[in-house]
Amino acid sequence: MTDSNKTATLTVHGETYELPVHSPTAGPDVIDIRKLYGDAGVFTYDPGFTSTASCDSTITYIDGEKGELLHRGYPIDQLAGKSHFLEVCYLLLYGELPQAKDLEQFETTITRHTMLHEQMQYFYRGFRRDAHPMAIMVGVVGAMSAFYHDSTDISDPHQREVASHRLIAKMPTIAAWAFKYHTGQPFVYPRNDLDYASNFLRMCFSVPAEEYEVNPILSRAMDRIFTLHADHEQNASTSTVRLASSSGANPFACIAAGIACLWGPAHGGANQACLEMLEEIGSVDRIPEFIERAKDKNDPFRLMGFGHRVYKNFDPRAKVMKQSADEVLDLLGIEDNPKLQVAKALEKQALEDPYFAEKKLFPNVDFYSGIILEAMGFPTSMFTPIFALSRTVGWVSQWKEMIADPQNKIGRPRQLYLGETTRDYVDIENR
Ligand code: CMC
Repeated sequence: MTDSNKTATLTVHGETYELPVHSPTAGPDVIDIRKLYGDAGVFTYDPGFTSTASCDSTITYIDGEKGELLHRGYPIDQLAGKSHFLEVCYLLLYGELPQAKDLEQFETTITRHTMLHEQMQYFYRGFRRDAHPMAIMVGVVGAMSAFYHDSTDISDPHQREVASHRLIAKMPTIAAWAFKYHTGQPFVYPRNDLDYASNFLRMCFSVPAEEYEVNPILSRAMDRIFTLHADHEQNASTSTVRLASSSGANPFACIAAGIACLWGPAHGGANQACLEMLEEIGSVDRIPEFIERAKDKNDPFRLMGFGHRVYKNFDPRAKVMKQSADEVLDLLGIEDNPKLQVAKALEKQALEDPYFAEKKLFPNVDFYSGIILEAMGFPTSMFTPIFALSRTVGWVSQWKEMIADPQNKIGRPRQLYLGETTRDYVDIENR
């Protein structure tokens, strides 16, 4: 990793320090400051980690300027077009595209792990019926460590493998049951003869009174949504999983932490927030008013589904998602969907506006995904749980990579302390 001939020079308080520089296989060079505090007695300051690499990784690469997303080197548009979610899961977890027999075995393993411990149903019943499905998911996934004791020892590679398979396999059941519980319908058990996406759709929409026929075009669209969200290198929820796991916490607790982080509207919660925004805008003629609000520094309103920390040109996932939205609405015969019309006009008007061009703000993956999910029959509250189930493989892959890394140590950021210095306690009557 290190190029021995590359160094950076830093002068602090009149002293000069040579810092090693590492060159990645793609992306900018990285200045290694690990010994800086020991040698120079100073910290670096980078709230929001805008310039800090927190780990090395071989899983996913994003080039924000080019609008490129690679999983193990393969471009996301090729994976979304030619592959399918479980093959992408294999690729993320094991580093290479599988041979046919390996894929078959992996699919069988995942399929055989989709059922939940029967007693988990009672756990669901402890939630209020109107609980947000994300609240249920955080709780249920955290509770898996109380149900699957035989896969919580992170020092055992076999247990780590079983935990990975369980998480990927059970997440659709967990999300579908959160939905069923929320809507007051009975839980639907998984079926081994269905593929991953079809199984999820059936567990969400089938009821005892009427079987749900899975439309192959919808299940393909669902699978593509899973694929497009599968991993995104060191984003907030993935970094949360890594930080939680750096203490040696069990995998279920770590993934529950990732789900909690994903929920926020600046991250995975943006898909729900985006659809609610399109609904609020309501018609194309109201778009200029909302664009002005997004530009107003005194108004907290932001265009949801717009902007990204890394992509500064376009989000390659958004392109595929937009195409999928057209296909799904066409298939369902939903012509003139008002939200799709507002979304397309909003995208056009915002991209023509100098504010968005100067700040390099483009539609992200969440801009069109909500339109597809709503057309499929999902309420907005299910959008982020679907993101969480898709991202589970990314979290798990990054977690596995981290645990196997001999350099792994507890994450412990420093701070720039601006509070009071030492002062003596004052008795309450003298304050
Ligand atoms: N609408 C209006 N202005 C925006 C927006 C937006 N959506 N996003 C960023 N800006 C402005 C922001 O006000 C700031 O302006 P200034 O430089 O004048 O202060 C500038 O652009 C840079 O914004 P930032 O907040 O410093 O950028 P960031 O990299 O910290 O934030 C972001 C990235 C995704 C949190 C942000 O763009 C945002 O809040 N977008 C809306 C929420 C959203 O769609 N999130 C989903 C992200 S993709 C899926 C995922 O990762 O989960």
